[in-house]
Amino acid sequence: MDERPRLLEVDMLNVHLGTPRRLILKDVGLAMTAGETLGLVGESGSGKSTLAKTLVGVHRPSSGSIRFGGRECLLAKGKERARLRREIQYIPQDPYSSLDPRRTIGETIAEALDPRRPRVSAYRQRIVELLECVRIDGSSLDRHPREFSGGQRQRIAIARALAVEPSLIVADEITSALDLSTQAEVLNLLADLKRSMGLTLIFVSHDLAVVRSISDSLLVLLHGEVVESGSAQKVFDAPASDYTRTLIDSAPGGPGFSLD
Ligand SMILES: Nc1ncnc2c1ncn2[C@@H]1O[C@H](COP(=O)(O)OP(=O)(O)O)[C@@H](O)[C@H]1O
Ligand SMILES: [Mg+2]
Repeated sequence: MDERPRLLEVDMLNVHLGTPRRLILKDVGLAMTAGETLGLVGESGSGKSTLAKTLVGVHRPSSGSIRFGGRECLLAKGKERARLRREIQYIPQDPYSSLDPRRTIGETIAEALDPRRPRVSAYRQRIVELLECVRIDGSSLDRHPREFSGGQRQRIAIARALAVEPSLIVADEITSALDLSTQAEVLNLLADLKRSMGLTLIFVSHDLAVVRSISDSLLVLLHGEVVESGSAQKVFDAPASDYTRTLIDSAPGGPGFSLD
């Protein structure tokens, strides 16, 4: 049993979305300690993004609890709510939703560093450091997102998230649109940041092989319910559900394998 204090504890989370309202997440629970990477897996439509977005406050659950650093997020208001919004950073699949195409990447990072007075000139040194942290040439801070490749844009999105100094990063399918070698670059970068910064990460993907390479623990969703959770090793060695077994058996690049 892990005795380290929990950073995030989710209990009996139920989320309804749409009109008419439909139950998307059913009694979802999870727990994470600082420094851990949790892989969130499941086929397309299983509710991964809904869970990720609920954790960062985009969706309001109909019941359940989300405790972060011992505080109940769902009760937070005003300044505390704003602080929690910064503590948990979301990186979407499409970097254009986190990187404004009209702004230079320096401006975007300055905004993350200081939303009230986002001046590149005042933060140049820190912006360069952050870009170099994700292996982007610091001198390119005056460029726009379109001038970078897909993999570079995702690394810039990671730098933007790091700028906020969050306690938790939720990366939602950030490698899914990338080719295999670029995918590996981003995964290696995340693994390095984990080691060097003690990053705590929820890594969301429909691709079990990708998740396996980076996760300490796993949570498998099926139709909005948790069908499996535990250490990555335990889940791979002895999956509790038939569904996870099927995922594992088909994962190592089997013929025509795809969940999406
Ligand atoms: N804003 C929304 N309004 C209504 N239904 C939604 C909304 N977002 C997601 N859904 C539905 O919730 C289910 C889970 O979606 P999602 O969380 O995006 O799954 P995943 O990220 O695992 O592919 C899907 O059936 C999807 O159509
Ligand atoms: Mg999704």
